[in-house]
Amino acid sequence: MNPPLKLLLCTAAMVALLTFTGRASSAITRCPNCGTTPVPYPLSTNPTCGDQSYKIRCDSTTETLQFDTLNNSYPITSINPSIQRLVIKPSALLPNTCVTSDLVHEGVQLNSSLPFNVTSGNTIMYMNCSTLILRSPLNCSSSSLCHAYINSSTRGVARCGDASSSICCTFRAGGSTTSYMIRVRESGCRAYTSFVNLDTNLAVDRWPDPGLEIQWVSPREPKCVSQADCDGNSTCGSDPILGGSARRCFCISGLEWDPVKGVCAEEVTCQNPSGCGGSTDRTALIAVYVQRMMDEEKLMDTIDPMLRENVSDLEVDTMKALAFLAAGCLEDRRQNRPSMKEVTEEIEYIISIATSETVKK
Ligand SMILES: *[C@@H]1O[C@H](CO)[C@@H](O)[C@H](O)[C@H]1NC(C)=O
Ligand SMILES: *[C@@H]1O[C@H](CO)[C@@H](O)[C@H](O)[C@H]1NC(C)=O
Ligand SMILES: *[C@@H]1O[C@H](CO)[C@@H](O)[C@H](O)[C@H]1NC(C)=O
Ligand SMILES: *[C@@H]1O[C@H](CO)[C@@H](O)[C@H](O)[C@H]1NC(C)=O
Ligand SMILES: *[C@@H]1O[C@H](CO)[C@@H](O)[C@H](O)[C@H]1NC(C)=O
Ligand SMILES: *[C@@H]1O[C@H](CO)[C@@H](O)[C@H](O)[C@H]1NC(C)=O
Ligand SMILES: *[C@@H]1O[C@H](CO)[C@@H](O)[C@H](O)[C@H]1NC(C)=O
Ligand SMILES: *[C@@H]1O[C@H](CO)[C@@H](O)[C@H](O)[C@H]1NC(C)=O
Repeated sequence: MNPPLKLLLCTAAMVALLTFTGRASSAITRCPNCGTTPVPYPLSTNPTCGDQSYKIRCDSTTETLQFDTLNNSYPITSINPSIQRLVIKPSALLPNTCVTSDLVHEGVQLNSSLPFNVTSGNTIMYMNCSTLILRSPLNCSSSSLCHAYINSSTRGVARCGDASSSICCTFRAGGSTTSYMIRVRESGCRAYTSFVNLDTNLAVDRWPDPGLEIQWVSPREPKCVSQADCDGNSTCGSDPILGGSARRCFCISGLEWDPVKGVCAEEVTCQNPSGCGGSTDRTALIAVYVQRMMDEEKLMDTIDPMLRENVSDLEVDTMKALAFLAAGCLEDRRQNRPSMKEVTEEIEYIISIATSETVKK
């Protein structure tokens, strides 16, 4: 075989190998429908599907999805996985009062350790407030939108206009104090409701039904213990963010983690820019790497700074092994190169190391 062809084969073999041992992600299972309602990834209704950080509940009696907060639960009325948002139905008023039924739970209280928070798309109306609320920065003026809402004959909130409960306020949620709660309490406001993406120019009777929109943080690659937990498009490697104490199914090079579909894909579904990104384009990295390696023949000098960040020790070892193999390939010029058979055997050996679960880090 002539040297240029062999060099090409060596390079091709290396690229293939890097693709094989690179970053990838894994085997996820979407949860079964709840009644007729799909449960998109990463939401999880049971321990065998979805991502366990994104638990919601399927009420088996009503076959409806429920969102559990710290002390209460709310029906989920819609889910939009592509923008990582869902809408829950706020509590209704207790009959003939201006008090919401979740006053006893102090309103909607999310667990701030979970990946869900209240979006800034919500316009909140606080009603039946005490005068204490007037010290807050909320808009509680007589022109505040909540008055128009209370005045509407079609909304069933007329009791909130009683003399005993006439202070109301309007604000846009999503600030630091409302990211995890819409608080109602005896000493503050005793009722609330919320509207998603409210067009305040519309007449009140054309407003949508009340809803509270909640978003979730993009899920990371699934956790794994061994390669068996990952699919063919991903490798079980240590998680650099958690200092290697956890392992995740990282996408093989050339594929990227798609947090919407929960798979390694060539093109990532992404309508929500803040929900995407985060993974390095390994294909580009490899191209640059191979190019530099061939240009400089200074393998160890180039491999470490480029790849050490965010890769496991095992991956670095694999890269190093590859680098030496590549060095062998580059020996072409010195008439001292390994045979293709040796290259193949070496690649197989490196693969076996890279995929072995017993390798010490
Ligand atoms: C407003 O809240 C107060 C305090 O909880 C309550 O006593 C009153 O009945 C409420 N107003 C209405 C109209 O329900
Ligand atoms: C919420 O539940 C916790 C534990 O069950 C309890 O300690 C806490 O008082 C409850 N808070 C409210 C506002 O109901
Ligand atoms: C909040 O969520 C974390 C993480 O799942 C959990 O460990 C913790 O017990 C939850 N807190 C409460 C009060 O439920
Ligand atoms: C309160 O809201 C009304 C209606 O949107 C607006 O006209 C008014 O300027 C606001 N007042 C304050 C103090 O922000
Ligand atoms: C609500 O109704 C009251 C009494 O009918 C009226 O004085 C007030 O101007 C109305 N407010 C709004 C914002 O429509
Ligand atoms: C709420 O979630 C969004 C998207 O996941 C995130 O960008 C934002 O930082 C979160 N806000 C807070 C206060 O945690
Ligand atoms: C691996 O990725 C390719 C390309 O995106 C895709 O066609 C294939 O179905 C994936 N395989 C698995 C097991 O996910
Ligand atoms: C490594 O991870 C950190 C934190 O996720 C990120 O900011 C950085 O861009 C990553 N670097 C590379 C080279 O992927």
